Amino acid sequence: MIIAPSLLAAKYAGLAGEVARASRSGAEWLHLDIMDGHFVPNISFGPGVVRALRPLTKMFFDVHLMCSKPEILLEPFASAGADQITVHVELGERVSPLIWKIRSLGRKVGLAINPPTAISTVRPYLDKVDNLLVMTVNPGFGGQEFIYETLPKVQQAAAWRRERGFDFRITVDGGVNFKTAAECARAGADVFVSGTTLFGQRNFKAAVQKLRKIVTAARTRQPVPAPALAGA
Ligand code: DX5
Ligand code: ZN
Repeated sequence: MIIAPSLLAAKYAGLAGEVARASRSGAEWLHLDIMDGHFVPNISFGPGVVRALRPLTKMFFDVHLMCSKPEILLEPFASAGADQITVHVELGERVSPLIWKIRSLGRKVGLAINPPTAISTVRPYLDKVDNLLVMTVNPGFGGQEFIYETLPKVQQAAAWRRERGFDFRITVDGGVNFKTAAECARAGADVFVSGTTLFGQRNFKAAVQKLRKIVTAARTRQPVPAPALAGA
């Protein structure tokens, strides 16, 4: 299991301190939401900010590009210190070359899918990605309500992974809190992006520990497959 605090929910006036807080919490990844004001109706920050934060922590930098033209951003984010770069499947025929380019830059590859997009659209790429990011809110803003209708997509991706022996991780992103994280874990998620829930706590480390405990408990309560019928 990986916990990935989303910097979008940090206090921007004290970003360095916020990164330090996340880093000391024991969370493995720092999720960096990049918004261009076009793919989504909001603007966050760019490669310059990522570059400035890179020396402050050893956390894995998980860059989520919610951008219409990721082609022009891959190299800048790779050189700024991204460990993984995620692009959206909604970009259609541009997805394959984008995956190839991220790989050629020596970075892990992520593919994200928005709530209204059918899960079948990611199927052709699953043997080529390290991470499938299932958006559990409509992208653009932190602090939104979790959309429960996205959970069957997590289940479907987990089923494909099991059946075909793929080894991508499944990330959930948006509205992940102490309750919804458990449901995501039961559906098959392994990476939990959480902004508001984690950065909103005074004790970040305790919040990460609590999230981890909840996910672990949810996983061990996975439904046990029904025993085979005698003679069946
Ligand atoms: C939404 C972003 C998310 C967001 C999650 O567009 O991709 O990463 O920061 O934030 P919370 O946990 O506040 O929903
Ligand atoms: Zn994100």
